[in-house]
Amino acid sequence: MKILILGHKGMLGSDLFLRLFAFHEVEGKDIEDFDIASQEACTEAISEIEPDVVINAAAYTDVDCCESDSDTCFSVNAEGVKNIALACRERGIKIVHFSTDYVFDGMKRNPYQEDDKCNPINVYGKSKLAGEQYLKQFSDNFLLIRSAWLYGKNGKNFVKTIVEKARTEKVLNIVDDQVGSPTFTWDLAAAVQLLIEGRHTGIYHITNRGNCSWYQFAVKILKSACVTDVTVKPIKSDALQRPAKRPHYSVLTCRKFFETTGKTMRYWQIAVDDYISKMGY
Ligand SMILES: NC(=O)c1ccc[n+]([C@@H]2O[C@H](COP(=O)([O-])OP(=O)(O)OC[C@H]3O[C@@H](n4cnc5c(N)ncnc54)[C@H](OP(=O)(O)O)[C@@H]3O)[C@@H](O)[C@H]2O)c1
Repeated sequence: MKILILGHKGMLGSDLFLRLFAFHEVEGKDIEDFDIASQEACTEAISEIEPDVVINAAAYTDVDCCESDSDTCFSVNAEGVKNIALACRERGIKIVHFSTDYVFDGMKRNPYQEDDKCNPINVYGKSKLAGEQYLKQFSDNFLLIRSAWLYGKNGKNFVKTIVEKARTEKVLNIVDDQVGSPTFTWDLAAAVQLLIEGRHTGIYHITNRGNCSWYQFAVKILKSACVTDVTVKPIKSDALQRPAKRPHYSVLTCRKFFETTGKTMRYWQIAVDDYISKMGY
């Protein structure tokens, strides 16, 4: 397959590139090449490259900045998706797009299914939901994958932040009232490859298996990195006063992915161990 990855320098995009490169003809574009918020630029690039599949891993992902910069956030996360979908539809190209657990409000107490009602509680989540809606409206051949709490080799992420903070701070205060599923982008990229090669379409939830709070995640990261002289203290989200609200519970069920592919994702703790060892922490 000829595959165009948008946002190929980002955290997920770079792992998708590495995974797919060995099996397909893959081309990557990022913000230096063109801005997905421009309809003209999307159409020009997609018609020039003529891929079979466009994977959109480009997004405005700074959840707190989205609160004060909602115009840019919507132009990338919503209009950008519409631009790509329109350019793909005209040429019969499949589009693979990513969304987030933050499209849900976190009021459920058991894992969210693909058809559960969305009700985002921050600007980022609202922009991602608008992107999903454009995708459904303007594409008849799409794969929409919702994931959560990503970490990977490239880019800023929670695992890197905790390991780096632990080098200078001996007490870390971490929120214990938000529960989700940490997901290694390397694992997510493998799952996406399976769905693409199986020519599946529709909405899928994909995360590593199991769930935890950010506090439990931080404890595991330090244990895995053999850091023994740092104390992690649980705090409530309100204590942080971050610009964007986060859902208290945003665990996604991956049952549909299992039923479709026969594969399960590995447990999040095993993925963290693997990441820490790959990063040499
Ligand atoms: N990170 C998470 O925890 C998480 C959780 C659930 C879902 N997701 C979704 O997963 C996908 C990948 O996330 P990620 O964390 O890998 O993102 P990321 O690391 O921020 O990568 C996004 C890439 O897109 C580029 N980009 C930004 N605006 C662009 C534009 N207007 N035109 C073209 N390229 C642009 C970025 O460039 P710059 O770096 O220069 O801005 C970056 O290279 C996104 O759809 C995100 O919403 C992420």
